[in-house]
Amino acid sequence: ADAAIGHYLRSHIRTVPDWPSAGVQFRDITPLLSNPRVFRVLIDQFVHRYFDLKPDAIAGLDARGFIIGSVLAYELNIGFIPIRKKGKLPFTTVEETYELEYGSATVEMHTDAVRPGERVVLIDDLIATGGTMGAGAKLLQRLGAEVVECGAIVDLPELGGSAQLRAAGLPLFTLVDFA
Ligand code: PRP
Ligand code: ADE
Repeated sequence: ADAAIGHYLRSHIRTVPDWPSAGVQFRDITPLLSNPRVFRVLIDQFVHRYFDLKPDAIAGLDARGFIIGSVLAYELNIGFIPIRKKGKLPFTTVEETYELEYGSATVEMHTDAVRPGERVVLIDDLIATGGTMGAGAKLLQRLGAEVVECGAIVDLPELGGSAQLRAAGLPLFTLVDFA
């Protein structure tokens, strides 16, 4: 992405040391959202990226992927698919368990959320170990969807997640790196 825009967005991300546990530098995106000019610049990066790609749907990861993903889907005039933490979705689901920087988790998606062959962009706020994004992509692929790209605001490249996702053949687009 454009370096100046990356720098601008980066300056509106707050780092909270030792949260939720010692040693974690938590990259807090709430200042990006509370400032309407910054929020618009952020969303427009994804809108411009995906306008020509014309995906059939946006899938968003619980919970911060919902904030970006739903606005993006609305702007692109396509549907939004929530991929949720286990136990939240009422209909029949598929699930995937994965490890993350501070624990493990299971995500679920409704079995009728995508049709085979649908081209889906998967959105989250941040890639750390890549476990969450990878699990979301697996669910979409298990239901026959094509994950045309994974998009996130922040990449933590030192944790190796983005490299692992790319090695697994998932195209990846991020706006801000934190070493
Ligand atoms: C955070 C973040 C990503 C994920 C990234 O969510 O919003 O979804 O971790 O980590 P990973 O690349 O190692 O999987 P978290 O699980 O803290 O849940 P939340 O969105 O409900 O706060
Ligand atoms: N999710 C996993 N690691 C994170 C971090 N360092 N900051 C924000 N969200 C995260």
